[in-house]
Amino acid sequence: MGSFGIPLFPEQASTFAQDIDALYLFIVAVSAFFALGVSVAVVVFGIIYRRRHEGEIGARIEGNLPLELIWSIIPTMIAMVMFGWGASAFYHVRTPPKEAMSVYAVGKQWMWKFQHLEGQREINELHVPVGRAVKVIITSEDVIHSLFFPAFRTKIDAIPGRYTQLWFEASKVGRYHIFCAEYCGTNHSAMIGWVTVMEPADYQAWLSGGGIEGTLVERGERLFQDLACGSCHLDTGRGRGPSLKEIVGTQVALANGSTALVDEGYLRESIINSQAKIVEGFQPLMPAFQGLISEDNLVALVEYVKSQSPSATTTAAAAPTAPPNPPPPGKRN
Ligand code: CUA
Repeated sequence: MGSFGIPLFPEQASTFAQDIDALYLFIVAVSAFFALGVSVAVVVFGIIYRRRHEGEIGARIEGNLPLELIWSIIPTMIAMVMFGWGASAFYHVRTPPKEAMSVYAVGKQWMWKFQHLEGQREINELHVPVGRAVKVIITSEDVIHSLFFPAFRTKIDAIPGRYTQLWFEASKVGRYHIFCAEYCGTNHSAMIGWVTVMEPADYQAWLSGGGIEGTLVERGERLFQDLACGSCHLDTGRGRGPSLKEIVGTQVALANGSTALVDEGYLRESIINSQAKIVEGFQPLMPAFQGLISEDNLVALVEYVKSQSPSATTTAAAAPTAPPNPPPPGKRN
C-alpha cells in the first residue's frame, strides 16, 4: 500500500502526508525532467555538432540575450515555486495547533519512552487517537536521536539537554513504524517502535486501563513536595524563589535585563541548571538538579508547574517554535 500507487512509499496516515508527498514528487519530477533533458541534449548535440574533418573550426557565438533570459527566468520561477510551497509546508508541519494534546518522549540508547499526561508510560509503543492533533515534546537522556514517523511524514531530533517538538494528526486507524533516524550507536538500527492509532473511544478505554502512579501532574506534585520546591517557591511571590502561579506563556524579566518566554524548555532548564536564567529580584540560591533527576521525572515536574498556570495551559501555550501567545501584561513573580 503506497501513495500514488508507488509501492516504495510508506502509507499516508497523517493529515499532511499527502501534501508532503506531492511536494516531494514535484521536486523529483522537475529534477528528473531537467536531468533527462540535459543528458539527452549532451548526447544529441555531441553527435550533430561533432567535428567532421581535420582542421574544422566551429562558428564563433557572441551570445543570445533572449535565450539567456529564458534560461534564467524560467528556472528562477520554478525554484520560487519550490521555495514557496516548501516554506508553507514546513511552517505547517513545524507549528502544532493550539488545541493539540501533549505526549512526552525521551530517547535513550536504544529505546523510545513515551509518557501521557494521564499517567500512562510506554516503551517503544505509542498509542494515539485518530483525528486529533498530537504534540510530542522530545528530549534525549544520552546522545542525539531522531524520532521518525514515516507514515506521518514527520521527524525531529531528540537532543540531550533541551526539548524539541513535532506534531501530527493521524488520519487512519492502524499500526505504523517508529524509527530512530539519527545514527546513535551500536543498536541504532534496532531502535524501532510502533505507534498505534485508535478510535477515540478505544483510546479513552486504553487510557483508563493504566497510570498506576497517577497522572503526570500528580507525579510531579509528589516530586515537588519530596524535593521541597514549595519551601522557596511560595505562591505569594515573597519566597526565596519566584511564585510559579500563572507564569507559563508569559515573558519573565531576568536579572540580566533580558526577558524569557516561560515554556517547557525554560522550566526544564530552570530546574536542572537553575543559574542559567535568574528572575529579576531574586538571588541565585537554587541548587542545580542536573544529574539528580531523570528526564522522566523532569517531565512530570514540568507538567506540575504548568498545571499552576491554568489559563495558559488550557490553550496549550509554550511552543518554542510557534508564534508566542501575547503575554498578559504585568504578570510576573
Ligand atoms: Cu537512536 Cu539512532
